Amino acid sequence: MQVVKSVAEMQDICRKLRRGGEALGFVPTMGALHEGHLSLIRRARAECQVVAASIFVNPLQFAPGEDFAQYPRTFEEDCRQLDTEGVAVLFAPEAEEMYPSGAVTLVTVSGIGDRLDGASRPGHFTGVATVVAKLFHVVAPARAYFGQKDAAQLAVLRQMVQDLNFDLELVGCEIVRDRDGLALSSRNKYLSGKERDQALVLSRTLNQMKQSISSRERQSAALLQLGKDALNGTEGVRLDYLAIVDSRTLLPVPSAEKGVLVAVAAYVGRTRLIDNFLIA
Ligand code: PAF
Repeated sequence: MQVVKSVAEMQDICRKLRRGGEALGFVPTMGALHEGHLSLIRRARAECQVVAASIFVNPLQFAPGEDFAQYPRTFEEDCRQLDTEGVAVLFAPEAEEMYPSGAVTLVTVSGIGDRLDGASRPGHFTGVATVVAKLFHVVAPARAYFGQKDAAQLAVLRQMVQDLNFDLELVGCEIVRDRDGLALSSRNKYLSGKERDQALVLSRTLNQMKQSISSRERQSAALLQLGKDALNGTEGVRLDYLAIVDSRTLLPVPSAEKGVLVAVAAYVGRTRLIDNFLIA
């Protein structure tokens, strides 16, 4: 696997790969890789002739006081895993390479970018959209792979791809969970043993809501009440949001119908976790 630090070199390599007629798949990450990331790589490998990945802990998507400095960095181990999974080229720029002094352009996805995590973390999705737009310009993939766990991020990026005419397909991939149901996240590393147990209330609550929906409870208000009671009743857990929304616009919907997104964000101790499901 080639490891590339400079934008110009990455652009050059990706241009040559595309010229060879290869369908280029791309998996952007912030590193600290787990099975969730590896599932994106495997899907990209199954669907594209050649796969590029990136590791960049993007300072622009962290607000002051958030966990940018503590974010787990496991570069050597990540490289080993990506190499084993057959990634051809890894882009791992320094912050100055992505944001040289004098760079002032931001990508803001209005409205949708201020909903769910965008409401709780103002400016977060401008940071995400800006870095992903830049990465798309550098790599110019045919397909880019993102986890459905970050459902709001996926919705924001779909809107951006449409609005800015990126010539690529965004592929949303299923959430990968530990055996006990906890959605995989690089931030799970922050949890103590006790907090990890407490964190299970997120997936458990979503499952209870899913079961109620299967038993024909469709009213969002009733479902949200059920979920909030469970989450608020758990020691060590502080609910950020529980929402039933249109999966494309992230706007609340009154009734939990097919294709609707049920999403939760909560602090377990000091760690903010998210989870969700799409109604089948
Ligand atoms: O989901 C992530 O890991 C990040 O938000 C992304 C898409 C790599 C942008 O920094």
